Amino acid sequence: MDIFDKLVTSKSPLGHFAHIKEEGYFMFPQLEGPIQPRMRFKGREVLTWSLNNYLGLANHPEVRKADAESAAEFGLGYPMGARIMSGNSEYHIQLEQELATFVGKESGLLLNYGYQGIMSIIDTLVDRKDVIIYDAESHACIVDGVRMHLGKRFVFPHNDIANLEKQLQRAEKITAETGGGILVITEGVFGMSGDLGRLDLIASLKEKYQFRLLVDDAHGFGTMGETGAGAAEYYGVTDEVDLYFSTFAKSMASIGAFVAGDAGIVEYLKYNVRSQIFAKSLPMPLVIGALKRLELLRTQPKLRENLWRIVDALQSSLREKGFNIGVTKSPVTPVLLYGSGYVAANLMLDLRENFNIFCSGVIYPVVPKDVIMLRLIPTAVHTLDDVNETIAAFEAVSHKLKNGLYSKEQLIETV
Ligand SMILES: Cc1ncc(COP(=O)(O)O)c(C=O)c1O
Repeated sequence: MDIFDKLVTSKSPLGHFAHIKEEGYFMFPQLEGPIQPRMRFKGREVLTWSLNNYLGLANHPEVRKADAESAAEFGLGYPMGARIMSGNSEYHIQLEQELATFVGKESGLLLNYGYQGIMSIIDTLVDRKDVIIYDAESHACIVDGVRMHLGKRFVFPHNDIANLEKQLQRAEKITAETGGGILVITEGVFGMSGDLGRLDLIASLKEKYQFRLLVDDAHGFGTMGETGAGAAEYYGVTDEVDLYFSTFAKSMASIGAFVAGDAGIVEYLKYNVRSQIFAKSLPMPLVIGALKRLELLRTQPKLRENLWRIVDALQSSLREKGFNIGVTKSPVTPVLLYGSGYVAANLMLDLRENFNIFCSGVIYPVVPKDVIMLRLIPTAVHTLDDVNETIAAFEAVSHKLKNGLYSKEQLIETV
């Protein structure tokens, strides 16, 4: 049998949607123009709510300048090689130190990508004697990291702390026999629902159980907490989070990631995280660009204030108009509607074509059958007018949805 046959014919759950309307419309859409709320899609201006550019740094003039100047000075090749061999620089070290200090930790380690970085960290932290316990709604990169683990792994229903406690008791019995330890993994902000991981409650379990806590705070870094240091700061449990991880792909509007913790464990990671020791280091423009982003994030609280002004306006207006936005406590704003996949496609088409609103839509199997989740990501560079325009559009499409206008079998060009 040709190994490719089943793959090409089955397409996979996501591949299945490739040709709804046409590829490039719902899947792999191309937004054009500078990264800002108003961008171009298929030749028209659309109001975008689907970029994790929380603080608006992607197109910030100082950021663009730092990116351009460092690219001109160093190019994208510099430094060549893995950091452990030849690809280190004073800027890489400076960035690690500044990130660690900002999130209240002793040491930090840069990672080239969030996804492979956290997978590799999980892989580095455990051996077959250890037990991993993780939240059921964890991001794919955590799930994939856990999949590499050769020992026992237990999952607890999302934020179900009583169940987590049961898993800790199970894990303790196992580690008492194997001589291993326990690693608990959760997220600071869950990127789909906007819910926060209950870091406060998880941290309090440390009084009864011995475990280490790794938190992926991809959506919390820069958005949550008094200074933007993330969900651990928000809950006041910086010390109880043993390893704090975030990507640069959201608030930092770039590529790269980091992990921070006590100096001893970070030193171990530095010499053992396989995705870093066997890979070329982050290019200099990304490192210098990250230093500039971090400086703005730290010194310009206005960015976070603007973000939260838009978040509060958007979420309170949606609630006032009767929309179900779930349990979000962060900028991530899901709007939960009901209908089949076809209904969802028709509704999103109408939003894009006739209301010029571009947001992401999530349907089964990511959410339960017949749930349509429109996911809005407010940013510091949206305006209150953008919010009002969007609320009016959402009211109009939800009215049409209730009246069955999107239930036709075929995708409608205009409604
Ligand atoms: C919670 C979470 N962790 C990790 C990642 C992966 O980060 P990266 O894009 O840097 O690979 C993402 C998505 O970007 C994410 O949402």
